[in-house]
Amino acid sequence: MTRERSQSSFQVTASSPRDKAPRPRWILGMDSIAYGGDYNPDQWSREVWREDVALMREAGVNFVSLGIFSWAHLEISEGQFDFSWMDELFELLHEGGIRIDLATPTAAPPAWFFRTYPEARAVARDLTVLGPGSRGMASPHAPAYREACLRITRALAERYGNHPALALWHVHNEYGGVPESFSEYDQEAFRAWLQQRYGELEALNAAWGTAFWGQTFRHWEEVHAPLPTASVRNPALELDWKRFSNDSILDCYRAERDVLHEISPHVPVTTNFMSHTCPDMDLWTWADEVDIVSDDHYLRADDPRAFVELALNADLVRSLSRGRPWILMEHSTSGVNWQPRNVAKQPGEMARNSLSHLGRGADAIAFFQWRASRRGAEKFHSAMVPHAGTGSRVWREVCELGAQLSTFSAVTGSRVRADVAILWDWESQWAQDLPWRPSADLGHRVQTNTWYERLWRDHQAVDFVHPEADLSAYRLVLAPASYLLTDTAAGNLERYVKAGGNLVVGPFSGIVDENDAVREGGLNAALSELLGVQVHEFCPLRQEDSARITWDAGSSDVGTQELPVAVWCEELVTTTATVLARYADGPRPGAPAITEHTHGSGKAWYVGSDLDLDGLATVFRGAYAAAGIGVPDLPADVEVLQRHGEDGTRYVVLLNHTDQAHTLTIPGTDHEATIEAGESQTLVVTD
Ligand code: GAL
Repeated sequence: MTRERSQSSFQVTASSPRDKAPRPRWILGMDSIAYGGDYNPDQWSREVWREDVALMREAGVNFVSLGIFSWAHLEISEGQFDFSWMDELFELLHEGGIRIDLATPTAAPPAWFFRTYPEARAVARDLTVLGPGSRGMASPHAPAYREACLRITRALAERYGNHPALALWHVHNEYGGVPESFSEYDQEAFRAWLQQRYGELEALNAAWGTAFWGQTFRHWEEVHAPLPTASVRNPALELDWKRFSNDSILDCYRAERDVLHEISPHVPVTTNFMSHTCPDMDLWTWADEVDIVSDDHYLRADDPRAFVELALNADLVRSLSRGRPWILMEHSTSGVNWQPRNVAKQPGEMARNSLSHLGRGADAIAFFQWRASRRGAEKFHSAMVPHAGTGSRVWREVCELGAQLSTFSAVTGSRVRADVAILWDWESQWAQDLPWRPSADLGHRVQTNTWYERLWRDHQAVDFVHPEADLSAYRLVLAPASYLLTDTAAGNLERYVKAGGNLVVGPFSGIVDENDAVREGGLNAALSELLGVQVHEFCPLRQEDSARITWDAGSSDVGTQELPVAVWCEELVTTTATVLARYADGPRPGAPAITEHTHGSGKAWYVGSDLDLDGLATVFRGAYAAAGIGVPDLPADVEVLQRHGEDGTRYVVLLNHTDQAHTLTIPGTDHEATIEAGESQTLVVTD
């Protein structure tokens, strides 16, 4: 039976304003670090459930995410529920002292749903209809999907909303896994969204620059989603489609959350972000909508130094949480199963990964998944209870980590302090990564990763901030890749520097406004006054070429050190800035490459090239000095992370990523510690 397709009555509410006041401290209502993982008991017998709870207790597990993909077992046909098995699990877990993070299972609609409502399926850009037989949501605008999501959410909230074991609601799973859909419902909703955003068609034509290539719209019906085209699509259309898709999926989350808030108002609500693997959701807009931020993180097996990207991600997630404790909802005990080669973790690596998140503000450490599946798509993914069972190294390390976390519980609620911030804006990333840029090799993410790694090697605690957010708490702000800057953001940076801040701006920054339009007044008009420099031309290098930058005499303490450039040069013309370094060769020999500018009481540097880690070291040295930031004397690839309690206690995490022992002094204290090769340690330091 197929129901008549009803019209989409969808209205997207605008994304939340940035920079809301911080919410009060909140940590799951638990008095210890939460430790556990995704628990998918639907695939096991009752005997296994009992063994699970016993093993959870042995490992120190006190928190599980339940029922993430259980819709088919909870609503066995439309409107007909079977909660008996879940009732039993609630009691078992409760008796075992294990708190429950109960999911709404809307990331995996049941087979009956797709049979009844085939029109609700998500549609790919090439108009392929995505079938059932896997997981992944339906079209976010399909009325049948939205209704069904609210029905199961309401039923779960009414049944378990007051259960004493319930600690948290886990809405859906990894929204953004299906980041866009092109069903007729979605396309129609896109038009409604645009009407809401622009009001008049003329405003849309102006914003999108449709006069170019003769794309002017005369009727709203002519406006379409970015379907396949003969040549490259209008970038402003692409950008609005990204915003619309983000808002659409966020609206699905909000609808479920509102039901949960209504029925169980005392239980906080989250949804697990995938800040690392999904660039499609603007998580600044999401972070304002959850009661606590949670995130999933998996190492990239092809990166032997993946612990640096892990650190970046954990710092980003803490920043999304505005410094408040957050939940690492998923990571892996060892290898995953969805990369081309899935590298098993080395002994000790799981603990180092976990404590890196903890040292960066996580108050909960959880894994996908509790027990390794014997069947299905993820049977080769590692788990807390691996196929090899409790005699294995993985199990031993799971138990050791549980014990270590239980001795460090006082850390919960404490905060990380950072003097340095990096600007981070998903919209700018979306825009910069669109096709037909001067160079596809000057990627937003690569550029940001390199600048972050320089700070990481200099042992700096780092926050990420939206370019429109308050920057006054930071001594130094870096803008490695701010291709798209709104007028508000540009004004914010200007005010920050004028008031005494220190800002380092990377290449290809301040180029376009929110509609991907170059401003009047030149390529970097948004920043040229602040930087005292104008960009006259982009001059990317041929793949096989390179260039060198040399320091102007007296501009640096580095003498004649040369900085290599691999991808990108710009033709810079200084107005009021001082030239620190110039191109020695390449497309514009002799032209300025790095500049410094005093603006009001602060300073702004411009780096017009893709410097490597050594090159950045030299530039940042000057910025650290101006900002009064010290570089602690610590061994390379050893991390000393600190969280601060309200009473002045320091909670210290030491991570040794090298194969030798090191003795060091913990910065800010006179406490000495020795850390063995590959080890991770937790320490409580009181004055
Ligand atoms: C996550 C997902 C989990 C599991 C895991 C495997 O993205 O939320 O359900 O699939 O990946 O690494």
